[in-house]
Amino acid sequence: MKEKLETLKTEAVAQITATETLKELNDVRVAYLGKKGPITEIMQGMKNLPAEERPQFGAIVNVVKNEIAQLIEERQVVLEEKEVNEKLSKEQIDITLPGAPIKIGSRHLLTKTVEDIEDLFISLGYSVAEGPEVESDHHNFEMLNLPKGHPARDMQDSFYINEDTLLRTHTSPVQVRTLLKHGGQGPVKIICPGKVFRRDDDDATHSHQFMQVEGLVVDENVSMADLKGTLELFVKKTFGESREIRLRPSFFPFTEPSVEVDLSCIFCSGKGCGTCKQTGWIEILGAGMVHPNVLEMAGFDSKKYTGFAFGMGVERIAMLKYGVTDIRGFYTNDVRFLNQFKRN
Ligand code: PHE
Repeated sequence: MKEKLETLKTEAVAQITATETLKELNDVRVAYLGKKGPITEIMQGMKNLPAEERPQFGAIVNVVKNEIAQLIEERQVVLEEKEVNEKLSKEQIDITLPGAPIKIGSRHLLTKTVEDIEDLFISLGYSVAEGPEVESDHHNFEMLNLPKGHPARDMQDSFYINEDTLLRTHTSPVQVRTLLKHGGQGPVKIICPGKVFRRDDDDATHSHQFMQVEGLVVDENVSMADLKGTLELFVKKTFGESREIRLRPSFFPFTEPSVEVDLSCIFCSGKGCGTCKQTGWIEILGAGMVHPNVLEMAGFDSKKYTGFAFGMGVERIAMLKYGVTDIRGFYTNDVRFLNQFKRN
């Protein structure tokens, strides 16, 4: 028995020393000291010994058992330290390496353009008005002198939701809503930025969704000269002091007279080039004197009050100012496009 114990101990020592991981060590522990291990087996075999030999033998087995347990514990300390060290060296980081750059977003070019336009008009005493994108036919058309069936409705092909509701085709209904709020009392001086929708096929210069900024001034003695001066200022502040404007007669149901406003070509300064189709002028917005019917429908006395209004496409302004050649760039949101217009 004693010999058997000695061999067992020698084997155990060899196996414990050979372990390289905590898992291996645990396997050895279970193999020797576990319930099904040889030590337990020997203990159980003691019942076959004469009673007087049992205590002495039991003591010897316990010594061996404790020695093995002790060795396992010591080995455990060594292996634990080893695993911690390995982990530390594997997970070491070089804190002197440069950091990964954080990608910082920026304002979208359209947002920037709208904000610049807003800033300019706010500095001229205008307020910014907003309204719903899903609009009633009443506000979008009828109150703007475009009764149902009016042929000029075809100028703005619309997305109808039902017979009386549509996605607004311009931000003019915000002007209507503002006039109604004023209850026939001037002055009114607002710009209305926002998304508008038209049933256009998308291409380099058309988008079924785009942005507008419209302006409206209603007061006593507002004249066409005020409109012209305002637009001239806008153009010079936006495209440079040397730019000029030209007004051409046009038609809008909600203004009379109506004009189309051209900007002296920013690419050839009026000499004639591909962009201005050799004319020296580029059309940038529509405007006019508010039609008396529109004022009256909104509760304003058209004998006392006059007003001017204008409306521009923000994409068009941004395309001209920043040399963007495809309107779809504003909506596909390719970061390579957007990154070019980061504000510092
Ligand atoms: N509402 C017009 C449009 O979207 C633009 C415009 C506004 C024209 C104000 C004249 C006066 O086409």
